[in-house]
Amino acid sequence: MTSDCDRLPMHVESGVVVSTHFSDEAGGGCFVTRIRAPEIARTARAGQFVMVRLVGCDFPYLGRPFSVADVDPEDPDVFAIAYTRVGEGTGMLADAVAGTAVRVVGNLGNGFAIAPAPMHVFVAGGIGSAPFPLLTRQIRAVDPDAPIRIYLGGRDASGLHLAAELAALGVDVRLATMDGSAPAGATVYRGTCVEHAASESLPEGARLYACGPNPMFAALASATAGNDLDVQASVEEHMACGFGACNACVIPVKNNPANRSAGWHYELICLRGPVFDIHRIEWHPEESEPLVDTAGSTR
Ligand SMILES: Cc1cc2nc3c(=O)[nH]c(=O)nc-3n(C[C@H](O)[C@H](O)[C@H](O)COP(=O)(O)OP(=O)(O)OC[C@H]3O[C@@H](n4cnc5c(N)ncnc54)[C@H](O)[C@@H]3O)c2cc1C
Ligand code: FES
Repeated sequence: MTSDCDRLPMHVESGVVVSTHFSDEAGGGCFVTRIRAPEIARTARAGQFVMVRLVGCDFPYLGRPFSVADVDPEDPDVFAIAYTRVGEGTGMLADAVAGTAVRVVGNLGNGFAIAPAPMHVFVAGGIGSAPFPLLTRQIRAVDPDAPIRIYLGGRDASGLHLAAELAALGVDVRLATMDGSAPAGATVYRGTCVEHAASESLPEGARLYACGPNPMFAALASATAGNDLDVQASVEEHMACGFGACNACVIPVKNNPANRSAGWHYELICLRGPVFDIHRIEWHPEESEPLVDTAGSTR
């Protein structure tokens, strides 16, 4: 995991939308917007994020956070974000035509730590697959021969995002849906992506990289407790600034992962994360959010 001091300088850059397309090749669709912003594109580390807002729009006033999904291998001044349309900010971005001016703040956060391993395993729920195209390229740069696999899960087939893009990069894509529905021609595991991963054997020393909703992280933390797998989780919270000024993005982190009664403290996801050792977070296994109080007390 990177420390605060390892970080490259943050840029506030005037970017331009190069293109937006709707990627729906494998069941679930998501928007992929390519943005020309050279400083950010050339220094992005997989797992870092950017705050993006359209220039000249009064609403939404605040930028929206997105993982850097990829950097164009043929044009390193251009990076991509991948997202679903959930509200005003993502809707306006999805509708933005080529040439639209955007303000981009990045690269924010720490990003995934990459090291050689017998296998690199991604675990993604829904649009949690967004950081993995760039992570695939950056793993290949340091560990070219290691296999890369993704357990990609959704409630149904429409929640499986970027499967075709990851397969095209040579990732072994394994799909899971809660209702058993499958994209045309694909086979799926019926259940969650964590259950799917736990049902198969992974080599000793495999490195796991996870991104998705909190219940997925809680299940993954529980499934990997006590083994020797390195599990990095890229977590999310509502963010207003993205760089430590608003205190909006707290998460409870254990004081001592080996001793739960040692309590916990809050850390800012945008500054200390978004990537954390999954076993440092105080997850509540049955609920959707991490605990917000110390051992023995209520949420
Ligand atoms: C570090 C980070 C990286 C992210 N990367 C991606 C990405 O790569 N692709 C992607 O699709 N989304 C990503 N998100 C989530 C994305 O930022 C939100 O979906 C987006 O801000 C919603 O903006 P909006 O104006 O469209 O919706 P709003 O109108 O702001 O919200 C619509 C709904 O989404 C909920 N919501 C908004 N933000 C969040 C959040 N952070 N967590 C949970 N619920 C939220 C709101 O409560 C509301 O119910 C990321 C979030 C963070 C913090
Ligand atoms: S988003 Fe403002 S402090 Fe983290």
